[in-house]
Amino acid sequence: MTLTRRHFLKSTAALYLAPTLAQASVNVLEAKVASVQLIDAEFGDYPETQVWGFDGTVPGPLLRFKQGDTLQQTLRNSLPDPTSIHWHGLRLPNAMDGVPGFTQQAVQTGETFDYAFPLKDAGTYWYHSHNHSTVQVARGLYGVIVVEEQTPPDVDHDIVVVLDDWRLDETAQITEDFGAMHDWTHAGRMGNYVHSHLTPSPASVEENARVRLRFVNVATDRIMTIALKGAVGKVVARDGMPLRAPEDLDTLVFGPAERADVIVDITSSEAQALQIVFVERDTGYLLHDIPLSGRRSDPRPPIQPLPANPMRYLTDLSGAREIPLIMSGGAMGRMESATWEGQEMSTRDLVQQGKVWAFNGVVGMPTAPLAELRQGELIRIPIVNETAFAHAMHLHGTHFQEVLPDGGFGPHKDTLLVQPRETREIAFVAETPGKWLFHCHMLSHQAAGMKTWFHVI
Ligand code: C2O
Ligand code: CU
Repeated sequence: MTLTRRHFLKSTAALYLAPTLAQASVNVLEAKVASVQLIDAEFGDYPETQVWGFDGTVPGPLLRFKQGDTLQQTLRNSLPDPTSIHWHGLRLPNAMDGVPGFTQQAVQTGETFDYAFPLKDAGTYWYHSHNHSTVQVARGLYGVIVVEEQTPPDVDHDIVVVLDDWRLDETAQITEDFGAMHDWTHAGRMGNYVHSHLTPSPASVEENARVRLRFVNVATDRIMTIALKGAVGKVVARDGMPLRAPEDLDTLVFGPAERADVIVDITSSEAQALQIVFVERDTGYLLHDIPLSGRRSDPRPPIQPLPANPMRYLTDLSGAREIPLIMSGGAMGRMESATWEGQEMSTRDLVQQGKVWAFNGVVGMPTAPLAELRQGELIRIPIVNETAFAHAMHLHGTHFQEVLPDGGFGPHKDTLLVQPRETREIAFVAETPGKWLFHCHMLSHQAAGMKTWFHVI
């Protein structure tokens, strides 16, 4: 029999599928110390950087599933420090949420922990250490999870773009000033090497090709503003969840942990490339460019919304319980005192303890939850930012929607960037029983006090 190209494709598909299925029982993510070439050659001849990575890579392995699959991953800890995995943005049972000392024990050096849960929602999610995260995430302990739709949109390339931010010394090593108080009281630990990592990273794209880009900001603290040049299209999802009405693509702003999926068509441009640009003040730095080569002539149909996830939308707030959250503290924050571990303390004494940010006058993780919620209860939280800094508020366990000034609701989100002196309101239905964190995802702010939790019963 002659092996036509068609046959060949069919048989490789079969070969490809078999090991993927068999993998389910042996998926181990090993957290370990490794060396990677972090700084691109164009910057000069830098040595490898010592990192902590899942399977020794940064980002960790890209985990791809189909909606409805069960994620099964064993974490093996080969680091000199206890760790865990938090599956950011995924709706899962509380015991799988990966918060040490809270939903599980930290996984000690040499030990393992088995995570398994069904993937209810399609979209772009990520996983990261939730132990000593100011250190562990800064060292590289994160990766991306893609949960494919049952019927994914028709695109020519599907590319994950991890945006990260490293603080490196002149030998390309991560500086170990993790708890620097000046960082913690201000905007957090800012790096000096902002970088994008593409998986896969195509050598070229055709003009008129349709590309899905899945952006994930894994930086510990940095807000990233990103522009795409040489493409037009739509934002189709935020924080993993499809937008009912895709938005025209403009500049994208990502607080730490925020994501967006965009679908674009490549246009011819002066640069003859698809460019990912990091925008700061009025300047742009090119993070990555993919040159154009060739041209597709088939006209593409208009970009459609992604299929909805099984997640309900809020329609009104009648009967909602209001739980305000007031943020205070930090540099220029005028906070005079706050409660830490049950004790009222002056800001001066709190700084000595590295505790400088408060929610409702309390710094650090309170023993009692912010509120006990009944399953199915509708909650609204006005978030009042009295501080001079932006905060990326993240809720574990379910997505919320922003309550908009006109009374409508924003898209499903798991992280909301709240600007200095701004008030924003979110609402959600308490979903899964258990203990769920609600914290700032600027990890320096979280470590310095911005952390609380809900108990869903
Ligand atoms: Cu992305 Cu509490 O975490
Ligand atoms: Cu913050």
